[in-house]
Amino acid sequence: MTARISAPPAPAPALPAYHSPAHVRAAPSHPDPYPYYGRLARERPFFRDEANGWWVAASAAAVTEVLTSETCLTRPLSEPIPVALQGGAAAEIFGRLVRLRDDEARAKLKEAVTNAVRSIDLGEVAALARRRAAELDDELGPTLDEASTTQFMFALPVQVIALLLGISRDRFGDVMGWLGAYGAAAAAAGTGIPALTPELLRSGHQGAQALFDLASAVGNAEAQRGPLFQALLREATRLGCDEEKDLIANALGYMVQGFAAMASLIGSTLLALARRPELFRQVEADRRYLRPLIQEVARCDTVTSSTFRFMAQDGEIAGHGLRRGDLIIVLLAAANRDPALNPEPDRFDIARRDRKSLEFGAGRHACPADKVAALIVEIAVDHLLTRGVPLERLEPCLSYAASGHVRTPLFKR
Ligand code: HEM
Repeated sequence: MTARISAPPAPAPALPAYHSPAHVRAAPSHPDPYPYYGRLARERPFFRDEANGWWVAASAAAVTEVLTSETCLTRPLSEPIPVALQGGAAAEIFGRLVRLRDDEARAKLKEAVTNAVRSIDLGEVAALARRRAAELDDELGPTLDEASTTQFMFALPVQVIALLLGISRDRFGDVMGWLGAYGAAAAAAGTGIPALTPELLRSGHQGAQALFDLASAVGNAEAQRGPLFQALLREATRLGCDEEKDLIANALGYMVQGFAAMASLIGSTLLALARRPELFRQVEADRRYLRPLIQEVARCDTVTSSTFRFMAQDGEIAGHGLRRGDLIIVLLAAANRDPALNPEPDRFDIARRDRKSLEFGAGRHACPADKVAALIVEIAVDHLLTRGVPLERLEPCLSYAASGHVRTPLFKR
């Protein structure tokens, strides 16, 4: 009897190899950092990256511990302002933002910044955003392609904040250029991504000076001040914050903080819809699905992929001994994929119950503008969908901006 020899099973088609980002600061611009983030959250909750000389907090518990620790500061004590920025106008903004300081005066200033933004009427914000979106349609032209979608993503949110501050429309072009220049120089000086060049530094200082001059002029002209600027001055007076430059810098801070973040969340939400036709149909049928969709995008494709902290003194974090000055990269995006925070964290589910997300941070530096930001993003996406944004053309021309911490999709050919 001859043995029957069965043919060997056909090999499974090879999956494209997954290349992890080289390190955590390369992850925000990686096409898909999530398998890497998920693995870190589960397997390496808190570790030292010897090659790069920094610590990494990846699990939800470690991230929360760092963000709520009194020992972990937003800047090293020895260098509150990056040396490269010192002596120029960019340092005047950088060193005064509540986001980047932990000194004693900060607590009251943060309270004023928070109270002011939370006192703004969301109905007024929505009306302003819809009106500005319609104006932008005229300014950007009748064709909505990938380039004008990207322009809209960046323009609408920051211009709504500018209107809330009282900045007039004829300055919007300048303001966006100055914010971009200041932001690029500050990120380069603070993180090295992109590399700081003399040109970046020069235009960063120029942009910062121009922003400062403009905000001072608006702040000093009572009739011109918008409701957000009014509220900031009112709260600052009530709480006894009387350093004028602090108020000007933190009024600008509302735009600085929200600029790339809101644009990024709009872009990532459009991508989520482009990749999931059934979800797109659901949202087209009922725009009330947009809100939970944006919340799930913020959890699953986190805009502020990471932030960072520095040790104020020797101490213990997540059971490890750290030294004064040590840098910790805090992976909000990894923590959002930790099964201890959300069951089945890799499942994209807009109906997820009791969703937990660290997208807006935690502890004393938590974002005070989560509601305003999410509302503006929702109106922007709603508007783009109504105008027939070409979702199918976004993925083929997708790239991510060079950044060590923020995940910003760009659509350009
Ligand atoms: C989708 C949009 C946004 C996201 C994802 C976001 C996220 C964050 C995160 C994660 C932090 C904490 C950073 C840290 O702990 O190191 C933060 C801080 C902050 N955000 Fe937002 N943000 C957004 C929009 C905005 C907007 C529109 C404003 C202003 C109107 C704003 C104002 C601030 C301020 C002032 C801080 C500093 C708080 C402090 O350090 O005490 N953010 N944001």
